[in-house]
Amino acid sequence: MEVVIVPDAKAGGAVIAEAMAGLLRRKPDALLGVATGSTPLPVYQALVATVRAGAVDAGRARICQLDEYVGLPAGHPESYRSVVLREVVEPLGLTEASFMGPDGSADDVPAACQEYDRALAAAGGVDLQLLGIGTDGHIGFNEPCSSLASRTRIKTLTEQTRVDNARFFDGDIDQVPHHVITQGIGTILEARHVVLLATGEGKAEAVAQTVEGPVAAVVPASALQLHPHATVVVDEAAASRLKLADYFRHTFASKPAWQGL
Ligand code: PGA
Repeated sequence: MEVVIVPDAKAGGAVIAEAMAGLLRRKPDALLGVATGSTPLPVYQALVATVRAGAVDAGRARICQLDEYVGLPAGHPESYRSVVLREVVEPLGLTEASFMGPDGSADDVPAACQEYDRALAAAGGVDLQLLGIGTDGHIGFNEPCSSLASRTRIKTLTEQTRVDNARFFDGDIDQVPHHVITQGIGTILEARHVVLLATGEGKAEAVAQTVEGPVAAVVPASALQLHPHATVVVDEAAASRLKLADYFRHTFASKPAWQGL
């Protein structure tokens, strides 16, 4: 995997938005997999600014969702469908017709999960999947010990993830659902390019284990070591426990200009 160390979250957002813009120039109807949480917001802000500046046309882009809470009523402001529509789809000038996500309010959740995997494949697969990382090393909502071959399915959140996400629910952990639908690790690994963004000291240990530790289900993000095109973008704080940080800095600084992420 390639590790890119940037000064701060804004720079991380800019470098990933440029990769997305480059993809859209090569493939205007690219399927972009987006993530929720706080970390990816600078990516969306930078991409929207690039589009508004006329540097890329995102009019044919397609957007797909990584995970979703189970049981929130349709239209709940913190359902990930609502979040992605608000943070990504609408600011890019796209409509819901360009958007795909799993149905967290389906009566038959396992069928909805299978349906989503089928829909992603029928859409030609994800071109670039953006990921955050949990403090416990989760990607999507694949909590520790998720199968590295898993497909989209229901998962139970750890207490830590519910604590981390309570800030989106007025700080009230009781409002955070226990269950989610998440693309599986096997599903995520099918994306042509996987880009993980991590910022802040709180992610430093998870990043070190992901990049420099063994591939292990207990650190789900470590599965990215198996992907032929995985990029990990970290700010200085999130990079602070990487033993090979200087090597990663040197590699990125000496990259040929044509190569991109
Ligand atoms: P965060 O979430 O970006 O809000 O820290 C990351 C994640 O849980 O994947």
